Amino acid sequence: MRTFLALSALLLLLVATSVAANGYGGNSASPGAGDGYGGGDAPAAADGYGGRDDASSGPKGNGGGDGGEGGVYHKAAYEKPVDGLDAGFYRKSCPDMEGIVQRAVRKAVDADYTLAASLIRLFFHDFAVEGTDASILIDVPGQSEKYAEASKTLRGFELIEEIKAELEAKCHATVSCADILTAAARDAATAAGVPYWPLKYGRRDGKDSVAGEADRRVPMGGQSVTDLVRFFESNGLTIMDLVVLSGAHTIGCASCGAVRPALCKLKGGAAAMERRYADFLRRKCGAGGEGEYVELDGETPTEFDNQYYKNLMRGRGVLDTDMKLLPDSRTEGLVRAFANQPSQVFEHQFAQSMRKLGEAQVLTGNEGEVRRKCSAVNY
Ligand code: HEM
Repeated sequence: MRTFLALSALLLLLVATSVAANGYGGNSASPGAGDGYGGGDAPAAADGYGGRDDASSGPKGNGGGDGGEGGVYHKAAYEKPVDGLDAGFYRKSCPDMEGIVQRAVRKAVDADYTLAASLIRLFFHDFAVEGTDASILIDVPGQSEKYAEASKTLRGFELIEEIKAELEAKCHATVSCADILTAAARDAATAAGVPYWPLKYGRRDGKDSVAGEADRRVPMGGQSVTDLVRFFESNGLTIMDLVVLSGAHTIGCASCGAVRPALCKLKGGAAAMERRYADFLRRKCGAGGEGEYVELDGETPTEFDNQYYKNLMRGRGVLDTDMKLLPDSRTEGLVRAFANQPSQVFEHQFAQSMRKLGEAQVLTGNEGEVRRKCSAVNY
């Protein structure tokens, strides 16, 4: 009990710190109005980092320097460049970049809300192989990551390509596919209800994409918690990020093919899935059930909330890897804390961890390239 209380306090502290660092402005779970989401405006203007035209130039002369008009302008912590990334990277070269991405994602998610989950997952799968470099988008049949077994049910490729075409028309050879994917995942998450978080840009696109690498690296449900911890830590993330980002499974669906391993284990008595829920999943996915999908959060499948953790506490996790987070001593306390804290605690922390996901191991400067089309490397 004492450990749990300590963890809860730690979580609240972390969230308070992250809210301050991110400039979220209080603990509002819906910063939409302030961030320009209502009218589909470019968020840059409303975020406070678009309006200031700095004197010095940032990487590749794209703006985003530190100088302000008439006096010293100290950037807020979240605006400072990290590993070659900068909030003002496209300020001069493509000022409406964020607006273009945001409007396209909003329109697509309004037409089909399931796309929000798919874009978040696409972003994660891209990250999983050598960081966010848009390698998942390269389309070489049978060979690139897109054709891996782990990528079979990924969606959202066409939307990213459409956004890229619009950006090429307006700012030729400027905005990388990796930055587009990062912004699209953020906008998909906020459309689903996650608090807005500001992004830094300047990622470059990778030139390599190998299906086998995706199958080797992307966690798909058969891993142990040790495997997952190792995967996250080797990519610069923490156990907290693992537990928080797994909470993405509060929306979206899993194919029966992904659910079956947990059900098989159940027969052996390995997992503690609630009986009635297991019966439901078996009916849906047991024999055959190819092409069938189940919601990852059976209780509130379309709400981005902390129900995922509550489900784990009741033995209602869908994937084997999700179910393993509760009984493991490294992750149990966090699962319990997120389940018992107000949902906003999880939601704010999710925004933090997504930001980290998009900043880990990225290509910047002269590395990689800026693709002309997201589906193909440049000639
Ligand atoms: C920790 C290890 C993870 C494992 C083992 C895992 C595994 C899976 C699996 C097997 C599916 C179902 C795919 C299908 O059958 O179509 C899925 C769906 C999903 N995953 Fe994960 N995942 C993990 C982490 C993450 C992370 C870090 C994110 C995002 C930050 C994420 C976001 C999603 C979303 C949103 C869906 C639903 C996609 C949709 O409805 O189109 N997952 N995941």
